[in-house]
Amino acid sequence: MENITAALVEAFGEPPHYRSIPAPQADSRHEVAEVLAVGIHPVTRAIASGRHYASSAALPFIPGIDAVVRRADGSLAYVGGAGSGTLAERILIDPDAAIPLPAHADPATVAASMNPAMSSWITLRTRVPFTAGQSVLVLGATGNAGSVAVKAARLLGAGRVIAAGRNRERLEQLLAEGADEVIALSPDDAETAAALAERAAQVDVVLDYIWGAPSELAMRAILGARIDHTQLLDWVHIGGMGGPTITLDGAGLRSNALRISGSGFGSVDMSKAALPELAAAVASGTLAIRPRPIPLTEIEAAWSHVDEPGERTVIIP
Ligand SMILES: NC(=O)c1ccc[n+]([C@@H]2O[C@H](COP(=O)([O-])OP(=O)(O)OC[C@H]3O[C@@H](n4cnc5c(N)ncnc54)[C@H](OP(=O)(O)O)[C@@H]3O)[C@@H](O)[C@H]2O)c1
Repeated sequence: MENITAALVEAFGEPPHYRSIPAPQADSRHEVAEVLAVGIHPVTRAIASGRHYASSAALPFIPGIDAVVRRADGSLAYVGGAGSGTLAERILIDPDAAIPLPAHADPATVAASMNPAMSSWITLRTRVPFTAGQSVLVLGATGNAGSVAVKAARLLGAGRVIAAGRNRERLEQLLAEGADEVIALSPDDAETAAALAERAAQVDVVLDYIWGAPSELAMRAILGARIDHTQLLDWVHIGGMGGPTITLDGAGLRSNALRISGSGFGSVDMSKAALPELAAAVASGTLAIRPRPIPLTEIEAAWSHVDEPGERTVIIP
């Protein structure tokens, strides 16, 4: 039997190892595709660690939640989802779920960018009734997903985009990338709450990449300073960099038109999210993150690397 090389998680808490495994075989619903590039996103590591709600219980397994592939007909496509892993030379894909990419697309750039970019794109297209002219606060705007969210909100017609995050240098750059205003999330809670209350309290949508205690503080500050408490505030939990849970005083819900929802695997109908349009925006560079390409042979070292702001490690099998 023919073999291919792949990354394999053999024990939770360890990086994946470079291994030789049997080559995948096409079946009636799947075709074999050549993997060109795979992004190592926070969710890729979280699922592989066994701690994510989409984690597999069975070991060993191939990690990787998405990939840029070359299909049997020679075309490029992006494939994603939390199903079977992608960090291998070749994988099985469902042709109906493959998102076509332009022939000129750079596989590493698309692999770096689609996951962070789709978080805000899908949310604004499908999870909230977002309309052009509305205002958006991106909480956690200095990470890759948050910084693309600033551009995506602008691209989708936001009237005003406010970027909040900890990294002041990155916040300054976001002013040139589509943010109308930036708010520094400082270790001084009173200062942070005052800034959010003064400059972000009237927004229509919050794209929240942080959650945990920083989001509790932001929610209290914003709800307390809203002028029209009946104006709908859609608060969408997308990422959990600040913690997995929040505590919410019921009075905040009774006294405000606050609607909390989430966006991620399981809550989103991908077929309604206009992903080919997003893929085109990513491939053209409009919503792109800088890739850091690393060969699959170096997967163990790549796994523990911490990316610089604005870059994402991409494995090239
Ligand atoms: N649901 C979805 O569809 C979806 C899709 C993509 C990503 N996500 C999630 O979104 C989150 C961010 O992903 P990413 O790709 O942007 O990761 P990333 O590029 O690694 O950025 C994460 C950023 O979070 C910030 N951060 C970390 N801890 C924080 C805290 N306690 N308070 C405030 N900011 C904090 C850090 O920026 P500073 O150091 O500058 O503050 C860090 O750069 C992750 O939880 C990821 O799983 C969800």
